[in-house]
Amino acid sequence: MNVLIIGGGGREHALAWKLARSPDVKKIYCAPGNAGTARRGENVPLKITDVEGLLQLAREKSIDLTVVGPDDALAAGIVDRFQADGRRIFGPTREAARLEWSKIFTKDFLLRHGIPTAAAGRFERVEDALAFCGTRSYPLVVKADGLATGKGVIIAQDRDAAERAVREMMVAGRFGDAGRRVLIEEFLTGPEISLHALIDSAHHRLLPVAQDYKRVGEGNLGENTGGMGSASPPAISLPNDLPQRVETGIMQPFMAGLHAEKLRFQGLLFPGLMLTPTGPRVLEFNARFGDPETQVILPRLQSDLLPILEATIDGRLPQVEMRVDPRAAVCVILASSGYPGSYETGKIITGLETIPPDSDDLFVFHAGTRLDGENVVTSGGRVLGVTALGRDLGEARDRAYDAADRIAFEGRYLRRDIAAAGAVA
Ligand SMILES: Nc1ncnc2c1ncn2[C@@H]1O[C@H](COP(=O)(O)OP(=O)(O)O)[C@@H](O)[C@H]1O
Ligand SMILES: [Mg+2]
Repeated sequence: MNVLIIGGGGREHALAWKLARSPDVKKIYCAPGNAGTARRGENVPLKITDVEGLLQLAREKSIDLTVVGPDDALAAGIVDRFQADGRRIFGPTREAARLEWSKIFTKDFLLRHGIPTAAAGRFERVEDALAFCGTRSYPLVVKADGLATGKGVIIAQDRDAAERAVREMMVAGRFGDAGRRVLIEEFLTGPEISLHALIDSAHHRLLPVAQDYKRVGEGNLGENTGGMGSASPPAISLPNDLPQRVETGIMQPFMAGLHAEKLRFQGLLFPGLMLTPTGPRVLEFNARFGDPETQVILPRLQSDLLPILEATIDGRLPQVEMRVDPRAAVCVILASSGYPGSYETGKIITGLETIPPDSDDLFVFHAGTRLDGENVVTSGGRVLGVTALGRDLGEARDRAYDAADRIAFEGRYLRRDIAAAGAVA
């Protein structure tokens, strides 16, 4: 079977690595891919939103299954277009992916179906949003409705900051159309976890729970990034009743909501949850695998991923085998210094050969890398993800940092507190 993976980050390299282990996968194409996916298959330099180009590629290369990594490709309608062409593709349609690309749509969906989330006001007119800011207590959370590359959420400590955020989004157009409408919500507290649920329209199956470390600095300080590391299970103590509360309080009403609204969702739903003192609440939904969560989830999945993705497309999720490794996984991201601000690229990466390419418990997932002749060089802010499995989080963490420290490039930056006891995500 020929497989096409859309995207070029650590998530896509982890998907390519996992799918390459499937006995039924003959060849993997990745668009655009990176230096890591180039080793597992063939990269094709197409943009993830170039739906027509990607469809052409799928036709030419007789692709049997396409797996969509990034949200932008879903919002661009790639699934709709491939399905209209009779092609098998893992991921929700543009309409169903609205659960990720519109926070207002999602808030309404959550409230309609009684799923716990922060109370919020939704605004289309700037004067209404500003008036609302004057009536609330602080902090308050201002969110752009649409996709804003992880920068569309502002925690406002006072009215002044909230009004500034509203004006930036709704008047100055900082996020373009994505910020024309805003959500202003109640500030919640508690640790955050990432759920990953496969959904085949009628059924759902949960993958292992994970946690990501979003801020650039240790102690969870500084700017938000795409993620500086991840752990599975999370390095926090989880309430005993969490599985049950997730199932009955979130997943069951979510599935009932899809059914009631005749919304067909096929693919991966990744709810971001906050574990508040009064129970888990949904902060947002993503409609695709998380990055870097995927880099700890897939190494813990012992079963073949290919039949799982196929069962998701075909509505056979309850029958498919999904065995999970009881060991813990930790992923440490090596980034370019300056990220998430500006950084230099083209730095030669050394030490990659110290990690055995076919190890079962130590992995280097490429993100911002490309081949330059014989060399692998940096090409992005997040460069590599080093994942290790261990008997517990402590062992996984030690092994991940040990391997990470064998890899060097000019300006290499990493957080030292990923999965450390007591470290904040
Ligand atoms: N209601 C809230 N209360 C407190 N913090 C929040 C709230 N909503 C979001 N956040 C914080 O902002 C981050 C980003 O928000 P999220 O809704 O996940 O949007 P996105 O991932 O699209 O930027 C969350 O991970 C969380 O740390
Ligand atoms: Mg989020």
